[in-house]
Amino acid sequence: MPGIAIVGLQWGDEGKGKITDYFAAGVDCVVRYQGGNNAGHTVVIKDKKYKFHLMPSGVLQGKKVVIGNGVVVDPEVLLNEIDMLKGNGLEIDLMVSDRANVIMPYHRMLDGAEENLLGNKKIGTTKRGIGPCYSDKIARHGIRMGDLLNEEELKEKLERVLPIKQKIMELYRLEKIDEKKLFETYLEYGRKLQKYIGDTIYYLNSIIDEKRVLFEGAQGTLLDIDYGTYPFVTSSNPVTGGICTGTGVPPKKIERVIGVAKAYTTRVGMGPMPTEERGKIGEYLAEKGGEIGTTTGRKRRCGWIDMVALKYACMINGVDEIALTKLDVLDGLEEVKICVAYEYEGKEIARFPSSLLTLEKCKPVYETMPGWDGARGKKKYEELPENAKKYVEYISDHLGVEISVVSTGAKREETIVL
Ligand code: GDP
Ligand code: IMO
Ligand code: MG
Repeated sequence: MPGIAIVGLQWGDEGKGKITDYFAAGVDCVVRYQGGNNAGHTVVIKDKKYKFHLMPSGVLQGKKVVIGNGVVVDPEVLLNEIDMLKGNGLEIDLMVSDRANVIMPYHRMLDGAEENLLGNKKIGTTKRGIGPCYSDKIARHGIRMGDLLNEEELKEKLERVLPIKQKIMELYRLEKIDEKKLFETYLEYGRKLQKYIGDTIYYLNSIIDEKRVLFEGAQGTLLDIDYGTYPFVTSSNPVTGGICTGTGVPPKKIERVIGVAKAYTTRVGMGPMPTEERGKIGEYLAEKGGEIGTTTGRKRRCGWIDMVALKYACMINGVDEIALTKLDVLDGLEEVKICVAYEYEGKEIARFPSSLLTLEKCKPVYETMPGWDGARGKKKYEELPENAKKYVEYISDHLGVEISVVSTGAKREETIVL
């Protein structure tokens, strides 16, 4: 069976949680492959809102869920999510990779300390320890989920890295790590999570040919460590390429790529965003779209849709089809704008630049279209206002990619499948 990928095409918060939940109904297993609890994926069922940071959103459809080796796991957050789901009477069939790196308290502390030192040049991270944890993974100083299961192994790993960490904590004038307490706390996490931890690489490869597997991306292409607006990015690869390194499933097994894009653009944290609207329009979108971060409660920056960025994202991810979300948020506007190119030093450019200085100087070139009202809650394409349909078709034509889903509200049923 083909593997399906769901990836964010903008700066995160595109509605991946809702779209994953929707497609999860038709699959057997949902897998997270990168990121950690910096993610905040919302699924709304009837009037209940679920917010997931680590747990794949498919869990609400009662599907097998897997946290792959490319994810960084904060065990406390994972245990809380398991408890939350159990508290809601839900069954959990979860497997967590024994190779996934563990977020330690010093990662969270260093995330905060580095941001403080950067001052007004900070990244605006979620302060969940994501960057420092991935740094340790690459530096070969990481603790992995499997290490939590073996007293000897955990002891040895900690003895190896803690002298380095203590030095760094001293340098940053942070609290000294209580090594005994840390060891006991993480051993206890291991005991509690033992039944979930296993070899997800063999598991996923054993089911990928017979079962339907969905890979749920966190963050988005423009936050990708390689393809995003570096250094104002996250520390992993949210793009489809990240699925292979983050799960051990080979590229040939991923046959369908669904890119999720909002009908406008948002960004939380620092860094350039060419179509940002700082005035009335930005406020309108923020207010109407409820653009408050799921993880940190920060206000999201808002602006018009950016086709230069989207085209770039479709290329990198090999997007076959797009799920366009939050079309209803544009309801009630007299006109809507679509950024079709950037103007840079008097010339029009159609490529997303790698240099931040260049991107900061890019001015959006807009096409203006008449607005509409009444897309909200529609369940059939024919029921959409004419101008809303024209907007959807314009985006699809411009990108040369089919739009297969249009979302008109946060709830499961507020979804149009084309
Ligand atoms: P994710 O991180 O990509 O999963 O997205 P978030 O959950 O952080 O943010 C998307 C927000 O928009 C959530 O509050 C969703 O419930 C909500 N949402 C998703 N799709 C739609 C939609 O089509 N219309 C509206 N109005 N809200 C939506
Ligand atoms: P979902 O999965 C939006 C942003 C942060 C910051 C940058 C780096 O819900 O789409 P990090 O803590 O990862 O080191 O922060 O990335 N960021 C997100 N923005 N949605 C997310 O996840 C994000 N995860 C991280 O705001 O700018
Ligand atoms: Mg989110």
